[in-house]
Amino acid sequence: MNETVAIAIDGPSGAGKSSLARRCAAAFGFLYVDTGAIYRTVGLAAYRLGINRKSEAAVAAILPELDISMGYNEAGEQRMFLAGEDVSAAIRTPEISLCASDVSAHPAVRAFLLEMQRKLAQEHNVIMDGRDIGTVVLPEAELKIFLTASPEARAQRRLRELEAKGTPVSFEEVLRDIEYRDRQDSQRAAAPLRAAEDAVRVDTSDIGFEESFQVLCSLIRKRLGLEPAGEKV
Ligand code: DC
Repeated sequence: MNETVAIAIDGPSGAGKSSLARRCAAAFGFLYVDTGAIYRTVGLAAYRLGINRKSEAAVAAILPELDISMGYNEAGEQRMFLAGEDVSAAIRTPEISLCASDVSAHPAVRAFLLEMQRKLAQEHNVIMDGRDIGTVVLPEAELKIFLTASPEARAQRRLRELEAKGTPVSFEEVLRDIEYRDRQDSQRAAAPLRAAEDAVRVDTSDIGFEESFQVLCSLIRKRLGLEPAGEKV
C-alpha cells in the first residue's frame, strides 16, 4: 500500500515550476524532486561523450554505463552527480538545456529514468516537477498542477536568471530556445508535455512569485488538508 503523498507539478520550461515547487516543499515538509535535473544530467553525459543526441540508438547505447545519482546537501538542495562528480551547476547552461530536451525525447531514456523517479515517491512525500509527472510517472498523485505562462513571460524570467548568473544572452535568444523546447517537449511521441485530465491549471503570466505561491498553498490546503509550517499564508 502506498502511504506516501505526492504532488505533481508539470508545465513548460520557465513557468516557475522549480522555484515554486521548492518553496512549497519547504513549507509543507515534502521532498522536492526536480526531474528536469535528472534529464539534464543525461544530456550532459551525451554532450561530453560527443554522441549524436538525436539518435535514440546512440543515446540508448550509453545508458547502461551511465553512473547518475542524486542527493541533497545540508541546505536541502538537490544535487546531481555524474560518475561521482557534482554536476549541479554544469547542467544549467543553455546548451545543456537543449541537450536535455533532445535526449528526453527518446523512450529508452524515459524508461531508464522512470523507476528512479517512482522509487523516490514510494519512499518520501514528494513534490515532483517535470513534464509527465501527472500523466506518466505518478498518475495516482494526490494533487496535479499544470503550471504555465506565456512564452514571453517565461523568456523574461529565464533571462533574469541567466543574467544573475553572469551568462550573457539576449531576450530573442532565450525566447527562441524556449519556443524550440516547447515545440520539442510537447510534440514528441514519448510522454509529451500535456496537462493530465485531472490537473489544476495555474497560469503565472500575470502574477508574481508570491501570488503564485499563495495559489499553490491554497490548492494543497484544500486538496490535502495540510497547513504550511512557518509560512504566513
Ligand atoms: O525542467 P527542465 O527545463 O530542467 O527540463 C530539462 C528538459 O528535460 C526539458 O526540455 C524536458 C525534459 N524533461 C522531460 O522530458 N521530462 C521531465 N519530467 C522533466 C524534464
